[in-house]
Amino acid sequence: MRAQASTVSLISAATFATGVAAICSSFSYGVGNVISLSDTLNKWNVYNENCDVVDSLTTSDNPCTVGMFGCTPAPITFDKFTNITNNASYICVSEPYSGEVCGNNTISVC
Ligand SMILES: *[C@@H]1O[C@H](CO)[C@@H](O)[C@H](O)[C@H]1NC(C)=O
Ligand SMILES: *[C@@H]1O[C@H](CO)[C@@H](O)[C@H](O)[C@H]1NC(C)=O
Ligand SMILES: *[C@@H]1O[C@H](CO)[C@@H](O)[C@H](O)[C@H]1NC(C)=O
Repeated sequence: MRAQASTVSLISAATFATGVAAICSSFSYGVGNVISLSDTLNKWNVYNENCDVVDSLTTSDNPCTVGMFGCTPAPITFDKFTNITNNASYICVSEPYSGEVCGNNTISVC
């Protein structure tokens, strides 16, 4: 109960301080569109509803096959996120609130 209350007040404080709208309301996390770091290296950020980066994948390989994400058949989108630390996995759905962004990274799935 105590932890829950402090989480709530942290979220309100951050929202109030930055004016950033929460993303993926009622979902655990949101994943942004690919961020191209170079010709071969790509990065995907996993955000909490406050747009804090809570996990990320940087790879030059297929992001569908390196373990953190699962993908649908074409048109390819992430349908699963796995926390590599504790193996908790989450089902992803296409961003239901279109146009949400964290910084300039458009959210792809929640
Ligand atoms: C992944 O699991 C670790 C260990 O339980 C936890 O500290 C971390 O917050 C989790 N990350 C996400 C994105 O859930
Ligand atoms: C996560 O799953 C992998 C593969 O099944 C396993 O090798 C690993 O020990 C698991 N880690 C945890 C923290 O459960
Ligand atoms: C997003 O912001 C970063 C840092 O401000 C910048 O380097 C990058 O070019 C921006 N990307 C786009 C697509 O606007």
